[in-house]
Amino acid sequence: MVKSNMLEAVPPHAIHRIQDEASGLDGIVVIHSLRLGPATGGCRFWDYTDICEMAEDAVRLARGMSYKNAMAGLPMGGGKAVINRPKGPYDRQKLFRSFGREIARLGGDYVTAEDVGTNVSDMMQVARATNFVAGLAPKIGTPGGNPSPFTARGVFLAMEVAVAQRIGKPFDRITVAVQGLGNVGVGLCELLHAAGARLIVADLDPERVALAVNRFGAAPHNSEGILTANADILAPCAMGAILNEAVIPDILAKLVCGGANNQLAVPECGALLAERDILYIPDYVANAGGIINVAGEYLNWSQYEVDARIDAIGPRVSALIEAAAQENIPPSAMADIMAHEIIGSAAKRPPGPVMSSKQTDIERRDASLAQGCDAKRATLGWAFK
Ligand code: NAI
Repeated sequence: MVKSNMLEAVPPHAIHRIQDEASGLDGIVVIHSLRLGPATGGCRFWDYTDICEMAEDAVRLARGMSYKNAMAGLPMGGGKAVINRPKGPYDRQKLFRSFGREIARLGGDYVTAEDVGTNVSDMMQVARATNFVAGLAPKIGTPGGNPSPFTARGVFLAMEVAVAQRIGKPFDRITVAVQGLGNVGVGLCELLHAAGARLIVADLDPERVALAVNRFGAAPHNSEGILTANADILAPCAMGAILNEAVIPDILAKLVCGGANNQLAVPECGALLAERDILYIPDYVANAGGIINVAGEYLNWSQYEVDARIDAIGPRVSALIEAAAQENIPPSAMADIMAHEIIGSAAKRPPGPVMSSKQTDIERRDASLAQGCDAKRATLGWAFK
């Protein structure tokens, strides 16, 4: 019997609060697992309301990275950083240099790169303070740079396999609804457009929608309704937790495959999709192309090796769909089991500090605020100590 809350059940190895008043840096680094190697995952720069929201996002994202890196066969554990975008004016370069200094203090347990809201220039600033960073401007012929095109390619490869299994029509007879037209979403639209697919698109930013309409002949859609648009495939490429109990009954697509992290609001939503006969390709299996490129850069692989590893996403998705069908469980549950097995079979590294001294300070100062986080902590299985 599958433990449906398996992903939620594994607590993170360490949670570090990172702050620097001078630059406006205020964030959290979560090291979820070091079993397979240094905890690796991007840095999200976003507007958060408080420390609880930051921690919740970072913990979920870091967990996803543990599973993603394991399934992609990378010698890396899972981690993630989130930074709260300063509300007032700030010096962006200074802020990311300060972030780099905080990463350096973690001594290589965490390796950062781009995620939502961060770019190659930000990582170049981080690199002035630490070597534990990737996604830097690439040298010719070697991996590096913005990981998003690689993410988009991996999602497309996953989708190709899933389309053959579930939809059985060529792309030029398929409509794809794409939510989010950022780095990954646009890259995916490019590939789908080249393959002849019809696109329906939505983004909170009307300029991005206009761009997709002009470049790909896409049909614009409002952001609220895009998840339930009349399409064969839904490709979530914005934020997480969008596949929830409220929306799943109304999804018209037969296949969900996109780049966004943490698409399932809770793991049980994987079963809800399966009950509706909607094939959901687990996000962390489909969207691993970017982290494969990041790993290749960090570990000095050739671009050839990186490309070959990204190409393996298609066959991996195929094997996953088959294994899930054999076990009669949703692909998301099957992927969790597989990732668990890979992480569990790795030699156990000695435990590191559960808490940084800085975080303990924060905890003391923010005791009342921390108490307010209790409900969220309980559901996420972690706690400040
Ligand atoms: P991005 O910041 O470039 O783009 C995100 C886009 O989504 C923005 O245009 C934003 O306006 C839009 N958006 C946000 N909420 C929306 C909503 N409710 N409806 C419609 N549009 C909305 O981010 P990026 O890099 O493209 O990442 C997208 C997703 O893919 C994120 O979940 C990220 O964690 C995930 N991801 C990204 C990777 C990468 O290589 N960049 C790698 C793996 C996952």
